Amino acid sequence: ALERTFSIIKPDATRRNLTGKINAKFEEAGLRIVAQKRIHLTKAQAGEFYKVHAARPFYDELCEFMASAPIVAQVLEGEDAISKNREVMGATNPADAAEGTIRAEFAESVGENSVHGSDAPDTAAEEIAYFFSGLELVG
Ligand code: CMP
Repeated sequence: ALERTFSIIKPDATRRNLTGKINAKFEEAGLRIVAQKRIHLTKAQAGEFYKVHAARPFYDELCEFMASAPIVAQVLEGEDAISKNREVMGATNPADAAEGTIRAEFAESVGENSVHGSDAPDTAAEEIAYFFSGLELVG
C-alpha cells in the first residue's frame, strides 16, 4: 500500500555534506520526499523525540549527538515506504548493514549512523506529526 514514513538525516551526515547523496538513495529506491526541512534540535527536543529510549544507557549520548549539528527531517512516500526505507537504510549498526545501503556506505558507528527511519505505521504517524503540520506535506 502507499505509505508515508518519517526519516531523519542525522548530524554526522549533514556535517559531512551527505544530504544529497542520501536523498539520491531514497529517490533511486522509489521513495518520494514529500516534506523536508533542515533544523537544529535542542537537546530537550531530541530527548522528547527519542523518549522511548529514555531508559537505555546510550540515551544521553544519543540526545547530545542529535543536538550537535543540524538534521534534515523528512517525510518519504511510496509503496510500502516504511519497510522500503528500512531496507535502503540498512541495519542500525553499520558493521551489520548490507552492501549498498546508506549505513554501509556512510554511517560511522551504531550511534552516529547517518539516518533514522520509523519502524511501524503508528510510530511513523507520531513522528511525522512531531515535526510537520498537514500543510507542510506536499504529495
Ligand atoms: P535510530 O533508528 O535513530 O533509533 C535509536 C538510535 O539509538 C539508533 O538509531 C542508534 O543511532 C542509537 N543507538 C542504538 N544503539 C546504540 C548504542 N549501543 N550506542 C549508541 N547509540 C545507539
